[in-house]
Amino acid sequence: MTSDPFGLRNLDLDDLRARRVAKWQAHPNRFAAWVADMDFPVAPPIAAALHELVDRHELGYPNWGGPYAPSPAAKLFPERMSERYGWAIDMDRVHDLVDVIQGVRAAIHHRSVPGDGIVLHLPAYHPFLDSIEASGRRLLGVARDGDGFDYDDLDERLRHDHTARIWILCHPHNPLGHVFERDELERIAEIAARHDLLVISDEIHADITMPGHVHVPFASLGDEVASRTVTVTSASKAFNLAGLRWAVTHAGDRRFHDALTTLPGHYLGAANVMAVTAAVAAWTECAPWLDAVIDVVDENRRRLVDLIDEHLPGARYRPPDATYLAWLDVSALDLGDDPAEVFRERGVEVSAGPQFGRGGEGHVRLNLATSPDVLGATVAAMAG
Ligand SMILES: Cc1ncc(COP(=O)(O)O)c(C=O)c1O
Repeated sequence: MTSDPFGLRNLDLDDLRARRVAKWQAHPNRFAAWVADMDFPVAPPIAAALHELVDRHELGYPNWGGPYAPSPAAKLFPERMSERYGWAIDMDRVHDLVDVIQGVRAAIHHRSVPGDGIVLHLPAYHPFLDSIEASGRRLLGVARDGDGFDYDDLDERLRHDHTARIWILCHPHNPLGHVFERDELERIAEIAARHDLLVISDEIHADITMPGHVHVPFASLGDEVASRTVTVTSASKAFNLAGLRWAVTHAGDRRFHDALTTLPGHYLGAANVMAVTAAVAAWTECAPWLDAVIDVVDENRRRLVDLIDEHLPGARYRPPDATYLAWLDVSALDLGDDPAEVFRERGVEVSAGPQFGRGGEGHVRLNLATSPDVLGATVAAMAG
């Protein structure tokens, strides 16, 4: 019997369905395998820290050293990066954010103008596509080439397209689950330098890297790379805190740092005391919980190979190297233009591939952050 001190392997479907969260309530009575939230119980140190705040009536303005002082979670960020990833950074470029996409959008706004090009690996997490389109920037997609990407083609296009200003790097990659290893990051850095691109590196999935893979923060490649990078991340994905709203940025790029420090006060809001308290507990006391989560996701990502053989033969899937998201090519199953709609009719809510842009046709994204039993029942239901 596998030990399960955090109750990650034994989830009750009725309890999940009763949870007042979008994952389970937006599509009642279906298996909810869409949005990137986990089904696992809250990590005990996070629950204790939040209970303590309430029990001590500490929901007033926090005492963090003034209205614009960095939060304790932001102050902890350099230590967290150094310990977990060997990335040494100075606190003076670290800024609190409300969420990761806020940081992405702010960097696009301050470091490019409408009409400028933004490089993005495709398929892509859809809020990046929305951020590019809504801000009037142009998408410059990096197409897939087998299991990798066609960087030669991108480099060649950038030699003729002088509008490119930014590269949004989703590292590790959602929805592909791809970990960019050092060689590939160096290739990206070299192209970014040649075409003078700012790199916005979204590393929100970094802590959910599977055994055998290593996350290398993009800005840790060297000083020149760091000086053209804006890193955005949060404790929210790995510790399942998305509703609390806190994220952090390291503005290696001086112009973005200057923009953040000269914005009118209150313009970006302020960090939420519960979110910051939870992030501090996550980064200081929850390593055993995170390890246990990685164990279950690792088991689920492998087991999905067998579940697909059994219930969805013909579907193609490569277990993700990071994230708890599985990217399934179901194009051989003859489910029409929108396979997610067919799965919906069969009682399963997955994320539809086409919303991730080019390369998403014939695909769906399935959430693996649940118990092995719920995953098994979900995939069995997908078979109809
Ligand atoms: C790559 C990536 N970035 C950002 C987010 C969202 O982060 P936030 O809610 O902090 O904006 C997600 C959520 O799934 C994500 O997968």
